[in-house]
Amino acid sequence: MTKRKKKMKGIILAGGNATRLYPNTAQVSKHLLPVYKAPMIFYPLNILIKAGIRDILVIVSPAHSGRFLNLLEPMFRDYGVRILSTVQEIPSGLPEAFKLGEGFIGNDDVTLILGDNIFEDTETISEAIKNFESGGHVFAKKVSDPERFGVVSFDEAGTVKSIVEKPEKPESNFAVTGAYIYDNRVVDEAANLKPSSRGELEIVDLHNFYLKKGELKMSIIEGAWVDAGTEDSYLDVCILAREKELYENFDPIIKEAIEKGRERFKAMSKKMLK
Ligand code: DAU
Repeated sequence: MTKRKKKMKGIILAGGNATRLYPNTAQVSKHLLPVYKAPMIFYPLNILIKAGIRDILVIVSPAHSGRFLNLLEPMFRDYGVRILSTVQEIPSGLPEAFKLGEGFIGNDDVTLILGDNIFEDTETISEAIKNFESGGHVFAKKVSDPERFGVVSFDEAGTVKSIVEKPEKPESNFAVTGAYIYDNRVVDEAANLKPSSRGELEIVDLHNFYLKKGELKMSIIEGAWVDAGTEDSYLDVCILAREKELYENFDPIIKEAIEKGRERFKAMSKKMLK
């Protein structure tokens, strides 16, 4: 009997209050701020949809719950993409995504993408998702300020040696970006994690679970990668989106959903004017 391939679910973590971007984020979630032609969250969503994922959970802060679903659920409903959302009361660490998403994930594997991470190279990630079998898979990018990120060191063959969260003395210049693929064991591992000294559940502990078993893969991504956490990096992603025409690389489903949405929006505006 052939083994049934597990389904892959997708989670976008779009919680937190982005106080660093106040007042831009006083009324609107950072993840709904415009990044040139589309709200920020469309960029991680694009990676998941390109990879063939059709079940997506968006994790949001209480202040912004509702807005994501109002926008995304009707837009993608007709394309077979099911988008759900759940609230994270307090931003207490990235692994909480797997605790909040436990029922949604069920027995399947899962890809987590941070809602403020914009990748020029979407292919490396979406192909890895399509070809994923088991274990964990992270994506690294060479940066000039590794101490701001999870830092991965690896040997010439690309075998991961260590990952350390925001080290004072980084072992390499390679940051672990905010896209992670894990098999279903991540749900139990996340449930058993204890908060670190800074009071948060740490994603590095999940990487280390797979690393210790020799089951953590790493791919290096090409092109630009920006984590839009500050005013300057937010501006950088907008410029990146325009200069590299990231919108042109959106999956046809997203482009079509935007066009249909635009038509509906126009019709609604006309009605309101009347
Ligand atoms: O961007 C890549 C980096 O993301 C990795 O290199 C680090 O290993 C990883 O820990 C993470 O570090 P950050 O310091 O950038 O994470 P931050 O707390 O800024 O959260 C990233 C996004 O996730 C942000 O859009 C808010 C959202 N978030 C974060 C936390 C902790 C949530 O929605 N809930 C949370 O509990």
